[in-house]
Amino acid sequence: MPGSDPAHWLDAALHGEADVEAVRRAALGCQACDLWKRGTQTVFGEGPARPRLLLVGEQPGDKEDESGRPFVGPAGRLLDAALERARIPRGDVWVTNAVKHFKWKARGKRRLHEKPSPNEVRACQPWLAAEIALLAPDLVVCLGATAAQSLLGPRFRVTAQRGRLLSAPLAPRVLATVHPSSLLRAPDAETRARELDRFVADLAQAAALLERG
Ligand code: URA
Repeated sequence: MPGSDPAHWLDAALHGEADVEAVRRAALGCQACDLWKRGTQTVFGEGPARPRLLLVGEQPGDKEDESGRPFVGPAGRLLDAALERARIPRGDVWVTNAVKHFKWKARGKRRLHEKPSPNEVRACQPWLAAEIALLAPDLVVCLGATAAQSLLGPRFRVTAQRGRLLSAPLAPRVLATVHPSSLLRAPDAETRARELDRFVADLAQAAALLERG
């Protein structure tokens, strides 16, 4: 849709010619890849005007696509519980996704998540870049490989570099950890509890870094 070209809005954001609300409104009409044809709506990030912490997920899921808000489904509930254990109020955090439309395939009446392609991640990246540039958080935490690769490059591996403080062209301080849905897929309760503890520890590390300034 004219007026919703992500590169134009990133440029405007970088030159102080657009604020987050203007970028959010523009992203609602984004057709930079084909995902808009299947998704109900663009799911833009949300949070306070001056967040110190910005969390990036992969893409909206079924519930997020319906509601238009990030991380409100099962993965969101797990994220909320982990944030609470790490003593990070969700209301203090900007929560967003690397890809802003839901990619899915039909299985009967259900809509099953499909991983976005590198091209889809690339097409959406200017929206994420604009959010980060305008909000200027002190720390970005990538939840899972799609978010981490969007900011840190396609060779980034969460398993190898999880919890390391890194620097990306878009964000001077970045940490990567797993995506909360990977915990939902754990093979048994014991593994899930152990992986949840590790995820909480990564979030607590983020909180400690922010505390240190
Ligand atoms: N998974 C994500 O990566 N983001 C959401 O908003 C919901 C589920």
